[in-house]
Amino acid sequence: MIDLRSDTVTVPTEKMRLAMASAQVGDDVYGEDPTVNLLERTVAASCGMEAAVFAASGTMGNQAAVMAHAGRGDEIICEESAHVFLYEGAGIAGLTGAQARPVKGRSGVLAPDLLEGYIRPLNDVHQPLTKLICLENTHNHAGGNYYRLEELSGVAAMARKHGIKIHMDGARVMNAAIALKVKLSAITAYVDSISICLSKGLGAPVGAVVAGAADFAARVRRARKSMGGGMRQAGILAAAGLIAFNEMADRLEDDHRRARALAAGCLALGFDLDLAAVKTNIVIVPAADPDRISAALKAEGVLANKFGAGRFRMVTHYGIDDNAVDYTLEKLKKIKNG
Ligand SMILES: Cc1ncc(COP(=O)(O)O)c(C=O)c1O
Repeated sequence: MIDLRSDTVTVPTEKMRLAMASAQVGDDVYGEDPTVNLLERTVAASCGMEAAVFAASGTMGNQAAVMAHAGRGDEIICEESAHVFLYEGAGIAGLTGAQARPVKGRSGVLAPDLLEGYIRPLNDVHQPLTKLICLENTHNHAGGNYYRLEELSGVAAMARKHGIKIHMDGARVMNAAIALKVKLSAITAYVDSISICLSKGLGAPVGAVVAGAADFAARVRRARKSMGGGMRQAGILAAAGLIAFNEMADRLEDDHRRARALAAGCLALGFDLDLAAVKTNIVIVPAADPDRISAALKAEGVLANKFGAGRFRMVTHYGIDDNAVDYTLEKLKKIKNG
């Protein structure tokens, strides 16, 4: 099968499996797993932040970060189609007891002019306090769009003015860094915390890392434990995570090139696609009949998910090579014309 459903379907490389088998481990709840500690130090240093915490998943990373930044009755601003709002089991409400305030972005990107009217006044007892702005980078629902540094700078200045923290759902932030040709720290300079997934395009089997200030990270560790995320000899997983973080980012440019090739091919086949909107590894294709296309592709050995009404999505990753792109476009041609 050619699996274009998501970059979450990547399986660990041989090198990861070998590193996992020989990883040094200890009890991470006691802070004694050397491999987890190394991963946390490595990610924190790359982000230019004081500390980091290994989490079981991107969802756990985001939700532990929200718990560490905000509390019961607070308000958290996020983009209206953000993962943290749509797909994390209402964790903002259920775990933190805070309320999410969704704001429509421009192609997933929030900007000061969009946010300003949503910041609550400090002196009105009727209203919750705005504690956090969550930015998703890259933005899944916006087809992998990323924040340009000047856009981040604008939101950061506005948040600072109001004393509001910024958390970045950086599930795919390495795709943004590669596309922008900047170091990770150039992006994280504008946020108070970030959660980075190791198990998407980077290919680790499990895990995410949350980075931020030392006191924030201590609160994340507490929140993670309360969610059952104290993982003991987690170095086995962190060993794969280290390879993912240190060695798998540079090749993401190949995924971006293949996503553009898929998009260009779809455009040539007559799908109404904005090629310029394909910035990283996600291609969202408008189609009147995404169910039929998805089923017909599956019958030809290609998996691509329907993505809401009138769209299907293809995500490139290291399991997708040039032949897979050509094969998919050949089958799409047959399906479209049939
Ligand atoms: C933007 C974004 N954030 C967070 C997550 C959550 O990651 P996980 O599936 O590891 O919980 C995902 C997963 O697809 C995602 O796309």
